[in-house]
Amino acid sequence: MTRKTPSDLRSARWFGPDDLRSFGHRSRLMQLGYSEADFMGKPVIGILNTWSELNSCHSHFRERAKDVKRGVLQAGGFPVELPSLSVDESFTKPTSMLYRNMLAMETEEMIRSHPLDGVVLMGGCDKTTPGLVMGALTAGVPMIYLPAGPMLRGNYAGRALGSGSDAWKYWDERRAGNISDDEWQGVQGGIARSAGVCMTMGTASTMTAITDAMGLTLPGASSVPAVDSGHQRMAADCGRRIVDMVWEDLTPDQIVTEAAVKNAAIVAMATGCSTNAVVHLIAMARRAGVNLTLDDLDALGRTTPLIANVRPAGKDYLMEDFFYAGGLRALMKQIEERLDTSCMTVTGKSMGENLEGAQVFNDDVIRPLSNPVYHEGSLAVLRGNLCPDGAVIKPAACDPKYHVHEGPALVFDSYPDMKAAVDDENLDVTPDHVLVLRNAGPLGGPGFPEWGMLPIPKALIKQGHRDMLRISDARMSGTSYGACVLHVAPESYVGGPLALLKTGDIVRLDLPARRLDMLVEEDELAARRAALPVPEPKFGRGWGWMFSKHVTQADTGCDFDFLERDFGRAAGEPDI
Ligand code: FES
Ligand code: MG
Repeated sequence: MTRKTPSDLRSARWFGPDDLRSFGHRSRLMQLGYSEADFMGKPVIGILNTWSELNSCHSHFRERAKDVKRGVLQAGGFPVELPSLSVDESFTKPTSMLYRNMLAMETEEMIRSHPLDGVVLMGGCDKTTPGLVMGALTAGVPMIYLPAGPMLRGNYAGRALGSGSDAWKYWDERRAGNISDDEWQGVQGGIARSAGVCMTMGTASTMTAITDAMGLTLPGASSVPAVDSGHQRMAADCGRRIVDMVWEDLTPDQIVTEAAVKNAAIVAMATGCSTNAVVHLIAMARRAGVNLTLDDLDALGRTTPLIANVRPAGKDYLMEDFFYAGGLRALMKQIEERLDTSCMTVTGKSMGENLEGAQVFNDDVIRPLSNPVYHEGSLAVLRGNLCPDGAVIKPAACDPKYHVHEGPALVFDSYPDMKAAVDDENLDVTPDHVLVLRNAGPLGGPGFPEWGMLPIPKALIKQGHRDMLRISDARMSGTSYGACVLHVAPESYVGGPLALLKTGDIVRLDLPARRLDMLVEEDELAARRAALPVPEPKFGRGWGWMFSKHVTQADTGCDFDFLERDFGRAAGEPDI
């Protein structure tokens, strides 16, 4: 392997020449208190930190950045910490998804415009992982992803609580009048006990597992709990390793190949795969020049068993248990034969080498292939006259009686209308009804909100029902569950056929056949299509306006058209 020399470093173009501009760059580092001995000839490592006081999942990141710096310094690099947009999942409205591409743009431009030779990306809360990775893949300098790690398992009255999943569950019980205010308060205080991302296999842990499986994290890093001292050690290891990656010129295009993307998709299916992962994985893959499609994912979903017994798709355990059971390396070891273990990773070694010695310590948490949680993978892709460009469902998370189902639609055009109706105890609804929400997609939401786990009508909850078939063009939280068909494409707001459905029409789901249809005659649909109103624009200015002009549909990953790899000539290096 040929190693770079100091004069080959990208940053040498800022600091090396004996000219006025470089004089300026050097003098400004000296303004920061550094001597030439601190930075000349050394790899400059950008630590892109998505810490924020409104990102509860990343509250440990200021400390972790120090651990990364420790590693970078030891390895002879020069660390610089750059605050990055912290797209948090809990507080960002209307939805964090509106801002994933903003983080991706920021990451790309921040790397391109600054004298960075390599980057450590610090993220974890749902959209931060794809946002950072998408931008860094385009920027192309050596990178390591440092996942925030899951929080400790929740605890209330001696019972484990899972992020999201248990909030929904206890909320249904509260709506049914089954739990007291005191109990509800206890759940509120116990469900998020430490720094770190949601500790179910929700979007955050699925996305970090995907990134790990792509070879972009240190092996198994995605499973280490945020507050474990091993997480600090992993952070310092990231710092040490990225410096060598710069010398080795180990760029992400050598790592994120078609085979690596396929590995990541298989691992996603085996872990329980948040439905959101579909959108993000497709977007990330396309940034790397890999045209991953919904059909590819369905094919992998049909053949990959779900073996991580972690909620919500698994029954019993949480991410902390998954870590103690051996973590992602152990899971990947179980399915090693299905993976392309020759793929290069950030360690400079192959995936197969990274998996050597990995072991399962609890085979109820990480199941053998002979005893999976669910025989097929976590995800299925549907097509039909309601979703010609696809829709997704999580078969393992829904009551099997809905796998083949026919029932009358109950259609809502807005979330507030639907919410008012489901809270009406006298709503005329049966468990056979199909609850439908539209105008909730990338453009209609706007921003593709997580509304897809439509609440079960109170009238049904009181009768003891906890699931029903639901359809929307929204996403749903990765910690959600139920018979929810999501990501219907094209979305209704742009005239997708979901816009033609009327209350009372019969909808048919046939999951084994991967079909979702409305049983309405074609000439009737044509008449309805001709009468569709032109929707009002959602934004008149600003980011939302730009988002509306450029976001792509769910089936291609919701990237901006002009950020996609094939859009046009790459910007190249800045002229200095
Ligand atoms: Fe941050 Fe769930 S809210 S990962
Ligand atoms: Mg989430």
